[in-house]
Amino acid sequence: MNAPLQKVETLRWRNDYLEMVDQRILPAEFKMIRFDSAAEVAAGIRDMVVRGAPAIGVAAAYGIALEARRLQAENEQTFKYGVESAFKQLAESRPTAVNLFWALDRMKTVWRSLQQESTQTIAQRLLEEAEAIFSEDIQINRAIGAHGAELLKNGDRILTHCNAGALATAGHGTALGVIRSAVEAGKKISVIADETRPFLQGARLTAWEMVQENIPVTLITDNMAGFMMKSGEVDAVIVGADRVAANGDVANKIGTYMLAVLAKQHAIPFYVACPLSTLDFSIATGDAILIEERSGHEVTGFRDCQWAAAGVNVRNPAFDVTPAELITALITEKGVLHSPNTERLQHKLICKA
Ligand code: MRU
Repeated sequence: MNAPLQKVETLRWRNDYLEMVDQRILPAEFKMIRFDSAAEVAAGIRDMVVRGAPAIGVAAAYGIALEARRLQAENEQTFKYGVESAFKQLAESRPTAVNLFWALDRMKTVWRSLQQESTQTIAQRLLEEAEAIFSEDIQINRAIGAHGAELLKNGDRILTHCNAGALATAGHGTALGVIRSAVEAGKKISVIADETRPFLQGARLTAWEMVQENIPVTLITDNMAGFMMKSGEVDAVIVGADRVAANGDVANKIGTYMLAVLAKQHAIPFYVACPLSTLDFSIATGDAILIEERSGHEVTGFRDCQWAAAGVNVRNPAFDVTPAELITALITEKGVLHSPNTERLQHKLICKA
């Protein structure tokens, strides 16, 4: 058994404000930014200061708490209008990850149950709920990690896409949580990190997290994955998820679908590590998942450097949907759900590993 791993703190509550790592500038710079209102948190989510489905859910919950605390000295009408507007603003920050809406729904349930209370009591209870969502997320990720670790063999080489690590959650991570837990359990695991164009979450964030913890990691560009699989250098693929439809179709970072097709072609297990809060039973299939389209500037260049011809047409869908039949199993906090489909998901046919 090795010591618990996780040196990365994505977001933290500081007495009366929220701090989040600025993920846009990692790893060149490590900087925490202070947030004092829901509007600031919504902008932070939209601009990708914080990203990753569970992390944006936790950030949004804190955004509601911040707004309630900010307005608690106001009259009841101003307070209620302000907090209601905060729910709306945060819900509009990003469309695809269901965890954002799940966390806001949970905050709304508390909000609605407290309408007769003083503004101070409401603000305090909302903060407690945000803190509960934060700490539960870490526990859930540790449980996902423990179940997933049992699927991995000593010496496995795991390909991952985007960043489903500590930076994408309150801590430990989902896909990277499985890897961390396997390493903690004494297994020798190495990681192949897809660069993940256009926002480079793999190159900038996943590689950084693994380097921080001395977990062997090899960075590749996205178009090298097929070569690596064909060369026999990948034992399993593990990714996170932004939303899982009732039939098991999975929305995740653009490029995930491509990997799942390749994994099938090469008979490599394709695992999706996600909390049960990522399941969206209101959506029958992945076709109904709203896919965020981001600015073309992310594709034509990076920061100040633009490499594509000015005026070129650009598409920038931030996510794609992997059909359930390409997924070997979902790794959840309750256990592993093999060959996901509508029936198996409905009955939560989850086994230990
Ligand atoms: O656009 P991002 O960086 O928010 O996309 C993140 C992903 O696609 C992750 O794989 C997903 O949110 C799971 S994070 C545990």
